Amino acid sequence: MSGLEPLTIDPTCRIEFGPGVVGRLPDFVTATGFDRAFVVTDKGLRAAGLVDKVLKGLEVAGMEYDVYDGVSPNPSTENVDEGAAAVRSFGAAAVVALGGGSALDAAKGIALLAGNRAAAAADADALWDAADGLPLVAVPTTSGTGAETNGFGVIEDACARRKIYLGHASVKPRIAVLDPELTLGLPSRVTAATGFDALVHGIESLASRGANPVSAAYATQAVAMVSRWLPVAYADGADLEARAQLMLGAHLAGQALTISGLGLVHGIAHAVTAHTGTPHGIALAAVCEEVMDFSAEAAVGAYEQAAQAMHVRGGTAIDAVRRISGGIDVKRPLRELGVERAMLPSIAAVALADPVTRNTPLLPTEPDILRILAAVY
Ligand SMILES: NC(=O)c1ccc[n+]([C@@H]2O[C@H](COP(=O)([O-])OP(=O)(O)OC[C@H]3O[C@@H](n4cnc5c(N)ncnc54)[C@H](O)[C@@H]3O)[C@@H](O)[C@H]2O)c1
Ligand SMILES: [Fe+2]
Repeated sequence: MSGLEPLTIDPTCRIEFGPGVVGRLPDFVTATGFDRAFVVTDKGLRAAGLVDKVLKGLEVAGMEYDVYDGVSPNPSTENVDEGAAAVRSFGAAAVVALGGGSALDAAKGIALLAGNRAAAAADADALWDAADGLPLVAVPTTSGTGAETNGFGVIEDACARRKIYLGHASVKPRIAVLDPELTLGLPSRVTAATGFDALVHGIESLASRGANPVSAAYATQAVAMVSRWLPVAYADGADLEARAQLMLGAHLAGQALTISGLGLVHGIAHAVTAHTGTPHGIALAAVCEEVMDFSAEAAVGAYEQAAQAMHVRGGTAIDAVRRISGGIDVKRPLRELGVERAMLPSIAAVALADPVTRNTPLLPTEPDILRILAAVY
C-alpha cells in the first residue's frame, strides 16, 4: 500500500499473559461488569482436567457459574443454538470461552445469541448488525487460531456443508487470558496442527491483499516466533518456554489476520473440513506449500519477508514451510483425510466462494483450485 492510504486499526482486547495468569480469572470476569460466569468449553478440556481447574478458581472466589461443554471440534450451528438456550436460562453473565478455536468460536455465537433471544445461529448473516451480545473473556488452551483477537466464529452449517461466519463487534473478547501452562498437556499431534495454523496465519497475512504496515508488523514477529518455537514445543510438550513463545506468537498471528484477512490456503482448508471433518490445521497443511507455489508470483515481497523472519538461508519461504511441516509430521494427502475424488469439484467451488479467498494475492479460478487439489490428492 502507498504511504498515503488512510488506516483504521480497531484496538484489540486487553492481553493478560503469563504462566498461572488464569488464576486471576474471577477478577477478569468482574472487570467486564458482571459477577457471574457462563463457561463455554468442550469435553476434551473436561477430560484434560482444565475445566475443573478453572471452575475451582471461580468457586474459591464465590462466583456463581454455569457450564456448557457440548462444543464439538469444528463447531456447528447446533452447538451454538444449544449453548445459547443454556445461557438464556442462566441469565446475565460474562461468557468465559475456555478451549481451542472451536470453544472460542462457539462462545462468540452463544454470547451474541444471548443478546438476541429470537435469533438462531443460522441467522448469522443478519446478526452482524444485531443487538449486543454478552461480554466475553477468552482463555485459549491451544496456540493456534488467534480466535481470541476477533469477534467472529467460523461455524459449520452442516445442512449447507459450508462454514458460516457468525460474529459481532460486541463479542470480540474484552480480555484474552494467555496462560501457557494451560497448553502443557496438549498432545503433540494437536500442538502440530494448531501451531501450523498459526504459521499459516502469519504467512497468509503477510501476502494478503488486506495487509498494511500494522498487520505486517504483527505477522512478521508471529512468523519468527512460531517457526522458531513450534518444532521445540512439538518435540517436548513440557517445555514451558517453548509453550509460552508459541502462545504469544499465535496470538500475534491472530492480531495480524484480524487486520489483514487471509487467503486461499484457508479457503481450501475450510472446504476440505466442511466435506470431511478434518481438523483445521491438518487441512491447511495438506495444501499449504502448493497454494504458496501457485501464489508466489503475486507475493514476492511477502514471501521474502516470511523467509527472513524464518531465518532462511539459501532457500525460499516455501522450502522453510516444507521443512517445518515435515518436522512436525502434519502433512497428509487428501485421500488420507477422507476426501473422495468425486468431492473435488465441490471442494473447489466451496473454496472459491469462501469470503476468506477474496484476500488471496493471486485470485484463482475453479480449474486452478482443482489443479492444486489434484496435486495433493
Ligand atoms: N475465529 C478465528 O479467527 C479462527 C481462526 C482460525 C481457526 N478458527 C477455528 O478454530 C477451530 C480449530 O481450533 P483449534 O485448532 O484450536 O482446535 P480445537 O479447539 O478444535 O481443539 C482440538 C482438540 O484439542 C483439545 N484440546 C484443546 N486444548 C487442549 C489442552 N490444553 N489440552 C488437551 N486437549 C486440548 C480439544 O478438546 C479438542 O478435542 C476451527 O473450527 C477453525 O475454523 C477460528
Ligand atoms: Fe486458521
